[in-house]
Amino acid sequence: MGKDVIIACDFASAEKTFEFLDKFTGRKPFVKIGMELFYAEGPSIVKEIKKRGHKIFLDLKLHDIPNTVKKAMNVLSNLDVDITNLHASGTTAMMEAAIEGLTRPDGTRPLLIAVTQLTSTSQESMENDLLIKEPIDEVVMHYASNAKKAGLDGVVCSPLEAGKVHERCGSDFLTITPGVRFADGDIGDQKRVMTPAEANKIGSDYIVVGRPITAAVDPVAAYERCVAEFIG
Ligand code: C5P
Repeated sequence: MGKDVIIACDFASAEKTFEFLDKFTGRKPFVKIGMELFYAEGPSIVKEIKKRGHKIFLDLKLHDIPNTVKKAMNVLSNLDVDITNLHASGTTAMMEAAIEGLTRPDGTRPLLIAVTQLTSTSQESMENDLLIKEPIDEVVMHYASNAKKAGLDGVVCSPLEAGKVHERCGSDFLTITPGVRFADGDIGDQKRVMTPAEANKIGSDYIVVGRPITAAVDPVAAYERCVAEFIG
């Protein structure tokens, strides 16, 4: 899979999601389904969107004991999604078990991506709540290296970290980056943002874009603009 724009379908119901996806009569965008929509609608929403011809990033961020994650990943492998993810903080053993569970009998599997430290976690909360005293950038890079060693395909990270992740883990280790905004757009609650063109330049493989597309007056035009700026 090459570079692509993934639309974060942060909707609360199947109805709202399909109302949005129905606008795309030409190209079928790659979509991200998160916890809200998945917990509201269950696996049927994944199957339904897949049937409509979209690629899917199922963003459920698994984190549990290795055996439980392995079994859960085995169930997810049957949903035929293209990308799914977990928390690297679950340890290398958990990530290795996840890969085993996700791999289908024919040897194929969805891409598996790790969340390193959430962007909502600050240096202060990491030190005080988690008792991790290292600089957060180092923790992110260390978790990325663990993910690579465990056989995962990449990490979710800020576009500002994508270059460094590629330096540390290789150019074929994927970076999926949220926090993307148009140069003339509203940044909302995102703190550190980049434009699609900047994200491309710094080496993001996939950008995850939500509100700049979902809340646009013309979502299809906003999506096409995003693709044009990111991929050219
Ligand atoms: O609307 P917006 O473009 O900010 O949406 C970004 C998407 O990426 C949301 O689904 C959000 O949960 C997700 N995300 C993020 N930052 C992270 C990880 C995921 O914004 N560090």
